[in-house]
Amino acid sequence: MKILVIGSGAREHAIAEAMQRSENVESVIVSPGNDGIGQEFEIVKLPEFEDIKQFVENNDINYVFVGPEQPLADGLVDFLQVNNIDAIGPTKAAAQIESSKAYAKNLMKRCSVPTAAYEVFTEYDKALTYLLNCAYPQVLKADGLAAGKGVIIVDDKDEAIHALKDIMLDEAFGQAGSQVVIEEFMVGWETSIFAFSDGNSFVSTIFSQDHKAIYDGDKGPNTGGMGAYAPVEKASEYHQYVDENIFTPVLRAMREEGNPFKGVLYAGLMITNEGPKVVEFNCRFGDPETQVVLPLLKTDLNKVCSAIIKKQVEKLTLEWKEGFAVNVVAASKGYPGKYEKGKPISIPVLDGNKRCKIYYSGVKKESNHLVTNGGRVLSITAKAEALKDTINEAYQTFEKLSFEGKTYRTDIAHKGLS
Ligand code: AMP
Ligand code: GLY
Repeated sequence: MKILVIGSGAREHAIAEAMQRSENVESVIVSPGNDGIGQEFEIVKLPEFEDIKQFVENNDINYVFVGPEQPLADGLVDFLQVNNIDAIGPTKAAAQIESSKAYAKNLMKRCSVPTAAYEVFTEYDKALTYLLNCAYPQVLKADGLAAGKGVIIVDDKDEAIHALKDIMLDEAFGQAGSQVVIEEFMVGWETSIFAFSDGNSFVSTIFSQDHKAIYDGDKGPNTGGMGAYAPVEKASEYHQYVDENIFTPVLRAMREEGNPFKGVLYAGLMITNEGPKVVEFNCRFGDPETQVVLPLLKTDLNKVCSAIIKKQVEKLTLEWKEGFAVNVVAASKGYPGKYEKGKPISIPVLDGNKRCKIYYSGVKKESNHLVTNGGRVLSITAKAEALKDTINEAYQTFEKLSFEGKTYRTDIAHKGLS
């Protein structure tokens, strides 16, 4: 089989790698990918939906795996469906579970899924009146896609007024902020989990944990994710609860409302004193969680995807490798704010070290040498038996990586040790 993966980050690198490991997969092509991914896989540039269709038809591609949220929210899967091309990913309507926080919250309310209490506002004045009269802290969320940045936690009235102005009047997140969700602040610890869904049935993965803040100890501004680990052992006691009280009702409601979700559904959870509550849904694999979950997946990823396409997820059971995976991200200096590009990268030589793997995101080739080309540059995943050894292994390899301004957290997965 031949598979086309859409996307350009480390997540898509990990998806392509897991596909390539699968039985019956002859080749994996990534679009647009990046020059780091290009060292291992064929990469092609297919900027328009029509280009993807032509490429699929001319190259006998069996199906398209859509990695990021933007093309899903833009309706790539709907377009492929109309053209009889199989794809892994939800339609535009089902992708609203991520592309509209108001849609996701209202859906959860309709099917009594545990989540923070909330209000939705389309008018600035009404939102302001609410904020002048509520208790604090509160969480303000721009409704639409905002590259993980549209969430502001406010501790008092002044901060709230400022944040609301930013989102609704000054359009800090563009059109994403024309509608705002204001929700209760939840106290607890965070973890996430994916469900592979064919619209009728689903099967869920192990739990993982992202590290969103830029600095150690979860300090500083939120990023796209500075590292992750899996499995999160202390979350496993909630697995059945999450399947029964979160994935089952949400996926059933979407199906019954004529909007079945086909693809990978990501649930970001807060484990509170009252049990797990949903922080957010994403309509695709998480980044960097994918870089720790897929290396531990023993079941062939192509088999999982084929089951989604053929609507046979009911018959699927997932098997996992023993041990842990830890992923540490190297970012450019200044990220998530302004950062420079074009710094030459010295890549660690892995020399047959099968316990470590490099996944590329913001890199490009200049005169045959990789240089930095994004906020998150690349990440290293290590896999080992015990979590402590896995952390050590990841950081030992990470130390051998160098580029000017290399920025990273030194405490990835430490929470898993306590
Ligand atoms: P989101 O983009 O919705 O995942 O939000 C980004 C981050 O903001 C989450 O990972 C949480 O750390 C935090 N957050 C979002 N909503 C809440 C909430 N209701 N209570 C507490 N923290 C939240
Ligand atoms: N790791 C969070 C996300 O992919 O949105």
